[in-house]
Amino acid sequence: MKKISLTGIKPTGQLHIGNYFGAIKPAVELAKTYDARYFIADYHSLNLIKDPKQLSSLIREVAAGWLAGGLNPDEVIFYRQSAIPEVFELTTILMAFTAKGLMNRAHAYKASVQENIEKQSDSDAGINMGLYTYPVLMAADILLFDSNVVPVGRDQVQHVEMAQDIAQALNFNYKKDLLVVPEASVQEQVAVVPGLDGRKMSKSYNNTIPLFIPENQLKKLIMRIVTNSQGVDEPKDPESSQIYQLFKLFASADEQKALADRYRAGGMGWGEAKDALFQVVNREVTPLRERFNAIMDDPKKLDDILKQGADKARPIAARTVARLRKAIGID
Ligand code: ADP
Ligand code: TRP
Repeated sequence: MKKISLTGIKPTGQLHIGNYFGAIKPAVELAKTYDARYFIADYHSLNLIKDPKQLSSLIREVAAGWLAGGLNPDEVIFYRQSAIPEVFELTTILMAFTAKGLMNRAHAYKASVQENIEKQSDSDAGINMGLYTYPVLMAADILLFDSNVVPVGRDQVQHVEMAQDIAQALNFNYKKDLLVVPEASVQEQVAVVPGLDGRKMSKSYNNTIPLFIPENQLKKLIMRIVTNSQGVDEPKDPESSQIYQLFKLFASADEQKALADRYRAGGMGWGEAKDALFQVVNREVTPLRERFNAIMDDPKKLDDILKQGADKARPIAARTVARLRKAIGID
């Protein structure tokens, strides 16, 4: 039997090129060897996004983005977290096995407390229970589907370890392996994609190249990439230029070598380097953009895909909850 790989995607912003190389491409690849379950973690987003129009459009955009990026809903069970009520029942069960101290140690919560302390505000200012108990909901997402591996970025490893702790606490109490203890899988080889300003591309830094923007906007954004003041004639070091780092993600080995040689030879200005980058990015994202627009233009089809995913996921979820209800004495 194939192992189960599961991951959640939080719809909190427009998908960008960093998400594509860091999350979408590797996850689509992983789905070839695992029984993959990928879902839109819409209730996790609620902690941050309180505007209903924005939340609902982000859910659709991010779902369409994954489909446009190659997720095949016939191979992957693809659903919305909110369509699986068993997630929330399992969350309640897990709460009883989650030490409060464990939540106190969660990075995201600790960072918010630290920020408050630095601002000399009350240490809990602006922190809701959704943020505080975020790792329990995430543990329920994972444990509900007997997941073996959870592909995530480094920042999420702690949350997966908390899911392990919670599963072990429950299994220990009932002296039975009721829940599968999951492992995080971090793709170490996935490069950190640099943003327009050279820092990690991230929506929190406002330095992203969104994946599906129209061609003319894509060109404008690439032209805005920050460069140094080296003149046209000066030889340039490709490895220290984020324009070249981005180029490498999209270009063939021959194209990479040819452009690196031109950087080193001198005679190529930053404008030309940016144009070369635009050409390769646009070549790769054009078919993605077309698929994305087609999916967004057919909301019924998108709803159907997500509903079919939920229909496949719910019986699995119901079995896990039934198993637990029986074991805990709430039958
Ligand atoms: P953001 O930093 O824009 O808020 P998220 O934290 O929502 O992005 O990340 C979603 C997924 O995309 C995660 O798996 C994360 O590791 C990946 N990712 C985000 N930005 C990058 C980047 N610049 N390079 C590589 N992977 C990234
Ligand atoms: N917390 C994850 C993030 O911020 C999203 C997520 C929610 C998730 N539930 C999950 C990831 C379950 C993996 C498994 O990116």
